[in-house]
Amino acid sequence: MRAMKRIVILISGRGSNMRSIIEAAAAEQWPARIAAVISNKADASGLAFAEAAGIPTKVIEHRAFAERAQFDVALSAEIDRHSPDLVVLAGFMRVLTPAFVQHYAGRLLNIHPSLLPSFPGLATHRQALEAGVKFHGATVHFVTAELDHGPIVDQACVPVMHNDTEATLAERVLAQEHMLYPRAVREFIEGVYHLAHGRVIRRDADRH
Ligand code: GRF
Repeated sequence: MRAMKRIVILISGRGSNMRSIIEAAAAEQWPARIAAVISNKADASGLAFAEAAGIPTKVIEHRAFAERAQFDVALSAEIDRHSPDLVVLAGFMRVLTPAFVQHYAGRLLNIHPSLLPSFPGLATHRQALEAGVKFHGATVHFVTAELDHGPIVDQACVPVMHNDTEATLAERVLAQEHMLYPRAVREFIEGVYHLAHGRVIRRDADRH
């Protein structure tokens, strides 16, 4: 039997992407387990779902640290207690130091609610509406030191309707995120793709 892979998920808030990953892992019987969910905010509502699912949770308040680097050192010490094969950022709203990112090179994924490289940063749905794009979406990417710029693993696309608001557009994108992210995490666990020399290499090379 193959060894179970270990996943650590980082959240800051509602954790709906975390939830979609936890649910898919259970429903599809992934050869992996969610070893821990860590939040930088004590009031992250996603923590309750993880606890109810029997997953160890931990809060490391970034506010308790004077420097970003100190927070990152404490965070990675907690992550590394679980010896993860993969670290998943799921609505984790902190910019990470290059040292942190380097430590998890090739095993740190993020989901960003836009079709990168369009609209990095915050308020992506507002950015999309202001730009007048006809298509918007979400991107799963490996995390690098440059915010929202890492090698792209997969994307999902939605149409932008003429009467969309930030809220209606966010909802349409989020529904896609909840399919996109579990699939990307599962494929990583199964070794379908990996990062090599800054590029995503896929085993199923004929996939678009
Ligand atoms: C998602 O839109 C995700 O793409 C972005 O932050 C949001 C988090 O939502 N990074 P949730 O906490 O997963 O519900």
